[in-house]
Amino acid sequence: MSNKMWGGRFTERPDAIMEEINVSIDVDRQLYAQDIAASKAHAAMLADQGIISAKDEKNIKAGLDTISSEIANGSFDFKRALEDIHMNVESRLGELIGPAAGRLHTARSRNDQVATDFRLYVRDYLDATDAALTAFQRALVERAIEHAGTVMPGFTHLQTAQPVTFGHHLLAYVEMTARDRGRFADARKRLNESPLGAAALAGTSFPIDRDATAKALGFGRPMANSLDAVSDRDFVLETLSAAAIASVHLSRFAEEIVIWTSPMVGLLRLSDKFTTGSSIMPQKRNPDAAELVRAKTGRVIGALTALLIVMKGLPLAYQKDMQEDKQGAIEAFGALSLAIRAMTGMVMDMVPDESRMKAAAGEGYATATDLADWLVQALKMPFRDAHHITGRIVAAAAKAGVPLHQMPLKDMQAIEPRITAAALAMLSVEASVKSRSSYGGTAPKNVLAQAKAWLKRLEKERKLG
Ligand code: ARG
Repeated sequence: MSNKMWGGRFTERPDAIMEEINVSIDVDRQLYAQDIAASKAHAAMLADQGIISAKDEKNIKAGLDTISSEIANGSFDFKRALEDIHMNVESRLGELIGPAAGRLHTARSRNDQVATDFRLYVRDYLDATDAALTAFQRALVERAIEHAGTVMPGFTHLQTAQPVTFGHHLLAYVEMTARDRGRFADARKRLNESPLGAAALAGTSFPIDRDATAKALGFGRPMANSLDAVSDRDFVLETLSAAAIASVHLSRFAEEIVIWTSPMVGLLRLSDKFTTGSSIMPQKRNPDAAELVRAKTGRVIGALTALLIVMKGLPLAYQKDMQEDKQGAIEAFGALSLAIRAMTGMVMDMVPDESRMKAAAGEGYATATDLADWLVQALKMPFRDAHHITGRIVAAAAKAGVPLHQMPLKDMQAIEPRITAAALAMLSVEASVKSRSSYGGTAPKNVLAQAKAWLKRLEKERKLG
C-alpha cells in the first residue's frame, strides 16, 4: 500500500531504502508536545473562522489530548512508514476520531507545521538554557564572594604574570556567561514569530487568522512572508552560534580546571563527586567531567557547521534537506545543557589550595610590575626606564635565587640607589592585588563589590523571573 497520508497518486510502496532515508520520526518525535500544541491552536482558529465546525474542533482537541498522554506514557505506536511526527499524530487522530481528523490539515502544510514546531522547541530550549546559565552564574558569584581575597597567579601565555584573586577569575566567567545569555535572549527575540499559516509556501485561500494562532502559541506576530516562513532556519543557526560560543567559554574553564587540578600544578581540587578513579593507578583523581565538557564543545561547533553547510546551497522555499536541521541541533543542545550543569556542579564544590595558590602567585617574579610602578610613582621615573631597571633587579634576584620581596634592600640599591624599604613593602602578593583597584581590577575590595552587585542582580532577575 502506498502512504495513506500522501499516496493518492502512487501505486507502489516506497522502496525500503527510500523509507530509510526519508524517515525522521526517530528524531522529530521529540517535538510531539510542540506539534500537538500547534495543531490545537490551528484547529481552534479554523473553528473560530468558520472553516471547520465547532464539533469537529472539539473532537480534534480531545483526540490530540489523548495522543499527548499516549506519547507521554509510552503507549503510542510510532510508525516509521508514516515518516514523521506530523503524520504519526494525524494518522492516530484518524483512528481515534474518524474523518474529522482529516480536516485538521486544512490551510496548513507540513512545511509550516515543522517550522512552527521547531521554533517552539528551540524557544523552550532557550528558556531552559537561560535558567541553567543563571544557576551557573550564581554558583560562580557565591564562590567569588568566598574567595574575593584569595590570591592566585594570573597568567598570560600560561606564564605567571601578575597576582590576581580567585574571586576575580571566577567573576570573569560570570561576565562571559552574561554575554552568552544576551546572545540567547537576542536569538529568542528574532525567533519569536509564527510561520503557521504560510502553508506549503504561498499562503492559503482560506480565511485564516494568523495573528490568532501566533498569539495562542506565544509568538509576537506571524512571519510576514510565507516563502521565508517555511524556508528560514536562521533561528536554529543563531541558537547554535550562541551555543557554540557558550560551549567555548565552558571549554576554556574546563581546560583551566584540568590544568589546575594536575598534581604538577596543584592549585585546585575537585570533589569526589566530580572526579573518577583509574582502574589501574590507585592514586589517580581524574577530572573527567571537565575533560568531557571540553570535548562536548566539538559537538556543538560541529552541529553549527553542519547546518550552515546544509543551508548554504538551498533555494527557496522548503527543501527536504532541511529535515536534517533537527538531529544535530538537538544533540548539541543536550550536550550544552549537560556541560552547563556539570560545570555548575564542579564550581559549587571545588576546593582551591589557598596556600599553594599564594605561593604560586609569587613565583616567577610576579610582582615585578609592582616594583616598576613604584619607581614611576615614587621616583617619577619614565615607565620604560623603570621597566629596564626592574628587569636588572629581577635578573640579580634570579641569580641569587631569592624572590623579589626577600631581596636585600642594599642589593636593590646597588642597581638603583633611590629605592627604599617602602618599595619592598609593595612586593608581596597581597600588597600587589590590593593595589590593583582601578575599575575592573583585581583588588579584593573591587571583587567583593562586583560579586555582591552580581548577586543582587541575579536575585532581582529571579524575583522578576
Ligand atoms: N519531516 C519533515 C521535516 O522535518 C517535515 C516537512 C516535510 N515536508 C514535506 N513537504 N515533505 O522537515
